[in-house]
Amino acid sequence: MENNFSIEINDKTYIYSSNLEMTLLDYLREELSLMGSKNGCGNGQCGACTVIVDGKAKKSCILKMNKLNNCVVQTIEGLSKDGKLHPLQIAFLNCGAVQCGFCTPGIIMSAKALLDDNLNPSRTDINKALSNNICRCTGYNTIIEAVNMAAKSIRENYELKLNIDKSGFNEEVIRKDGILKVMGKPIFSDDLPIKDSLYGELVLSEYAHANIISIDVSEAIKFKNVIKVLTYKDVPGDNVFGIISKKQPVFAFDKVRFLGDTIALVLASDKKSAIEASKLVKIKYQELEPIFDMKCSEHSNIKLFDDGNVLKKLSINKGDITKGFEESDVIVEDTITLPAIDHAYLEPDSVYSYYDENNLLTISTQSQSSFDFRESIAKNLNIDVNKIRVITNATGGAFGGREEPTVQIHAALATYLTKRPVHITMNRYDVLLRTIKRHGEILHYKYGAKKNGKIVAFEADILADTGAYPSAGEAVILRSVLFSSGPYEIENVKVCGTAVYTNSVPAGAMRGFGSNQPAIASEILIDELAIKLQIDPIEIRKINALKVGSKTIGGQILQDSVGLNISLDIVKKMVENYQKPILENKKIGIGIASAMKNVGLGSAMVDSAAVIAEFIDDHLLLKISSVDSGQGSDTVARQIGATEFGCNANDIELIANDTLLTLDSGVTTASRQTYVTGNAIIKAVSNLKNEIIARIKLLNNYNNSKEFVFKDNHLFIDNEQISYKLLFKLIGKVVAEGHYIAPKTVPLQEDTNNPNDLIEDYNLHFAYDFGTQAAVVAVDKITNEVEVLKVFAAHDVGKIINKLGIKGQIEGGIVMGLGYALSEEFIINEKGIITNSFKKIGVPLIKDAPEIKFQLIENSTKNGPYGAKGIGEITMVPTTPAIINAIYDATGIRITNLPAKSNKLKNKKLKESL
Ligand code: FES
Ligand code: FES
Repeated sequence: MENNFSIEINDKTYIYSSNLEMTLLDYLREELSLMGSKNGCGNGQCGACTVIVDGKAKKSCILKMNKLNNCVVQTIEGLSKDGKLHPLQIAFLNCGAVQCGFCTPGIIMSAKALLDDNLNPSRTDINKALSNNICRCTGYNTIIEAVNMAAKSIRENYELKLNIDKSGFNEEVIRKDGILKVMGKPIFSDDLPIKDSLYGELVLSEYAHANIISIDVSEAIKFKNVIKVLTYKDVPGDNVFGIISKKQPVFAFDKVRFLGDTIALVLASDKKSAIEASKLVKIKYQELEPIFDMKCSEHSNIKLFDDGNVLKKLSINKGDITKGFEESDVIVEDTITLPAIDHAYLEPDSVYSYYDENNLLTISTQSQSSFDFRESIAKNLNIDVNKIRVITNATGGAFGGREEPTVQIHAALATYLTKRPVHITMNRYDVLLRTIKRHGEILHYKYGAKKNGKIVAFEADILADTGAYPSAGEAVILRSVLFSSGPYEIENVKVCGTAVYTNSVPAGAMRGFGSNQPAIASEILIDELAIKLQIDPIEIRKINALKVGSKTIGGQILQDSVGLNISLDIVKKMVENYQKPILENKKIGIGIASAMKNVGLGSAMVDSAAVIAEFIDDHLLLKISSVDSGQGSDTVARQIGATEFGCNANDIELIANDTLLTLDSGVTTASRQTYVTGNAIIKAVSNLKNEIIARIKLLNNYNNSKEFVFKDNHLFIDNEQISYKLLFKLIGKVVAEGHYIAPKTVPLQEDTNNPNDLIEDYNLHFAYDFGTQAAVVAVDKITNEVEVLKVFAAHDVGKIINKLGIKGQIEGGIVMGLGYALSEEFIINEKGIITNSFKKIGVPLIKDAPEIKFQLIENSTKNGPYGAKGIGEITMVPTTPAIINAIYDATGIRITNLPAKSNKLKNKKLKESL
């Protein structure tokens, strides 16, 4: 007789008997369609699947149904009652504790279990309760604020109100999409099942470097429920993809260059059969020796490509480097070694492809650019771009890692060939194995300075590991070279940068895009200069800081919005007002670092955006294609639209990222969307208003009217006011477009002397971000563990649009920079990934989050919307070197090989004591 099991979920009882081996997470998602609990890793590492079982927070991905008889389960879907949000859900929104939102349901459930038990939790209690939940976006501080805010409201029995009315610039405007996120609504790609879908399982290489002799799919195709097995032979168009150089195969056919190379795709009517059958694809290889050491690559006999192992070599020369060093009173020189790191976005790559009602091949997925994906897929499939539709769903973090397709081309091809919907979701190991990384780099640096602190010579040799395929490697090494000296004006410069292939996972874009690595090297060496010259570390930066009218080492004369000196003054004051704590067995140190980062694509690339604005019913509808992967660009778009149209940001309807419904605004990268899409929104709404005025003037009553003002949901015409509701009745729907092209930029030249300094438009980039941070660390005298106690930050944002959004970017960026300094690294060898879990790649946890104090600088840039610049990337750039400098200040130990783990400190200490 069958045993019936019973489980209560969100006050409803379910009887089950045949799903005993299933995990609770799969039961919730697959059997009950409760998609609020997320699958970030499937094996207990991330906490995205957390639910409450019998009063305790548990990870549902590691709980088997056979252990849950008579249990009571609460999921995120059961939290709001009668359409009313729980105080935790409101507090998370009001505090800005929701960014991409993929971690949010799990974190809220952990917090709920805590508050059910303790309504007055300390920071230690919160850290403990949330110790199993990773958030890659927020930096955790807003989450702590939110838990405290909700606890207080429950404890003191008052109702929290959602801050939905705030809308204007310099206010804390909540994200409207966050409401769905705190409720755990099905909005992410893997939440959106499509009926009768086929499941795809990728067959990956068994070797890091090998020739493929043969591929045999005959056994796999015979496996039950298998519909098709695809290989390179099935690709009708180009079998390659890539952001700049297209060299990465969709399906490898002659050679594999890393363990993530895809050789086949098995399609079956159920997931299990697809996985089982994928093991039956037989591939014969001729194994080749791999290269994992970037130092050996350029001159190695082992070649990844026929034309060698160098992707890009470039240099810049300014002034006379020999003379510069001859004139120097002091010289500092060192080599800084930086590991590859993973983006660690929480939502695994996932895609559904299908034919929509218009017979368009539709790819529903996460990305950083729907239009670029569409273009690539059209070329791979050799079909007209207009026959393809790409919809970017809510995207669970990106940080540069979703600029190029991972499974989207494969799914599109499968649907194209089978005419059936296809679903592919990568598991966490494959996400780690197949998605791009930040470039590991080795930077040999040398600065020469006069006694007064003025730097007169700078020489650098930068080597970057771009992995097996180019991705954005050419552009990354260009930025590493361009930002190599730090944000300083230096007369004599010689820099060489080389990006080489290895058999590692391809490296490409990641938050900071090539500017992080040189910032670490330059800020460490500037610190060394300050020590040698006995000059205050802030002072030496001020002596050399770029300002308006300065020439960068790339030869560009900066025209406006250079807030570096102001940021140094602010951080100086913050540090002066700080009292170093005295902690038992700890050494306390403070480190400073500054940084600059480009806004926009630059280097002669056309940087444009286009937006559709519609006046419909009683409100504004914006159709945009910037991707909000958590950074808050949708809220900024609403705020700009609201400012221009005279309404509340939350009343604006937004359609984002559907190539059928929106216009191309390029990739969401380089902190560019506030600037370019912001300007396109201003144009679109301005054109819309002109069209509305033209329409209303056609009506008898208003044909001689003079003054038209759009304000407070009304159109004010001379002495009359018409509500938008009435306006719509009078003139009906109005549509307008706004197209914006950012100021022209020029390509980098080897000789950057820019002989004619009067050429004002010799712009490598049209705007730059600047900022300074100070980190306070406590280093344990016995264990050598480093704790970051506090970070002070000052950033020039041009103009503050959403205070809450900027706060999120600063705090999230700082904690990411902290991870880069202390714990993060991605290591792979010929056998597989060594750092094969969130823990091993070193993603910071809530206990690692320091207290953060920041100040914003409004130093407007000429062509930015209201003077604004994007802020998404630079926030993490100075954090890493500030921490390394703080460790030196505390211990006298200079870490030059990151991350600064306790064993490295111990070894250095031992070495230096010998
Ligand atoms: Fe359960 Fe990551 S999905 S812990
Ligand atoms: Fe936490 Fe994105 S908001 S992972």
